Amino acid sequence: MSGGDLSSAREQNRRSWNAAVGAHDSHRGDLSGFLRKGGLTLFPEERELLGDLRGETVAHLQCNSGGDSLSLVSLGAEVTGVDISDEALASARRLSEEAGIPARFERADVHGWLEGGARAGRRFDAVFSSYGVVCWLPDLGAWADGLAGVLRPGGRFVLVDFHPASEVFDERWRPVRDYPRGGEGVALEEGVGDYVGGSRGGLTPAGFVPGREDFENTEPARLYRWGLGEVVTALAGAGLRITALTEYPYSNGERHFAGMRELPGRRMVPPEGVPALPLMYGVRAEARR
Ligand SMILES: C[S@@+](CC[C@H](N)C(=O)[O-])C[C@H]1O[C@@H](n2cnc3c(N)ncnc32)[C@H](O)[C@@H]1O
Repeated sequence: MSGGDLSSAREQNRRSWNAAVGAHDSHRGDLSGFLRKGGLTLFPEERELLGDLRGETVAHLQCNSGGDSLSLVSLGAEVTGVDISDEALASARRLSEEAGIPARFERADVHGWLEGGARAGRRFDAVFSSYGVVCWLPDLGAWADGLAGVLRPGGRFVLVDFHPASEVFDERWRPVRDYPRGGEGVALEEGVGDYVGGSRGGLTPAGFVPGREDFENTEPARLYRWGLGEVVTALAGAGLRITALTEYPYSNGERHFAGMRELPGRRMVPPEGVPALPLMYGVRAEARR
């Protein structure tokens, strides 16, 4: 893909996200009240990989509407949230204000932000990104180099994302696609959907509100299909040391498939009769000291 195609795909993705944020937020209940009272939107998997954040600087990449960014602040970090969507960041700033939890939010393309941050000498103790993030990255090598560039010596990058193995299946568990590979670009004509509404409470720890029920996105999007080995190899290739790689046979919050059963902690597992397979993975990678 040429540079011009890449930037137009990114701009299209920005429009698709801008269109979807209002529908997502319409389901979130009193999220600011929940956060104000000390509630956390983070799941145990990312907390365990991140470790103690007290007094640390954290860059939260692809932060969306900022619930997790503010939760990181509640755990003692000083947080900079980054996202390409204007609407997501407007929502994040509003949430920060209403919850009384301060964080800094910067609207940017993640690749450009990482490259600019590394060049400007910005350094963080930790960088975090989660749940539906790698699929928006056209260039894993540049992403991983950028991560290594903004981590202080000994700093860590933590990623929790949906497992590419689950992309082989359609909603009814039928194997319909090859395992992702090479960042193959895929047009999503229906754009970013209302996965928050579709989770029916899985992604709304402050309580589920039916909210917008008829959402249709008129802005298509473009996704990139990467395998797990490619993600980990890109991080290692950037000089980061992989200190954890965990595959989980459940998906936190989201119901990607038909008949998902909900276990305590908003953990979604396949219906009876579908064999266990990895639905999420987590990686921790450390910068050299
Ligand atoms: C599924 S959301 C991530 C979920 C998020 N961690 C949360 O807590 O809700 C993916 C995010 O990636 C952002 N995004 C997509 N492409 C991007 C890019 N090139 N640069 C920065 N952010 C991007 C979208 O705007 C969206 O907010």
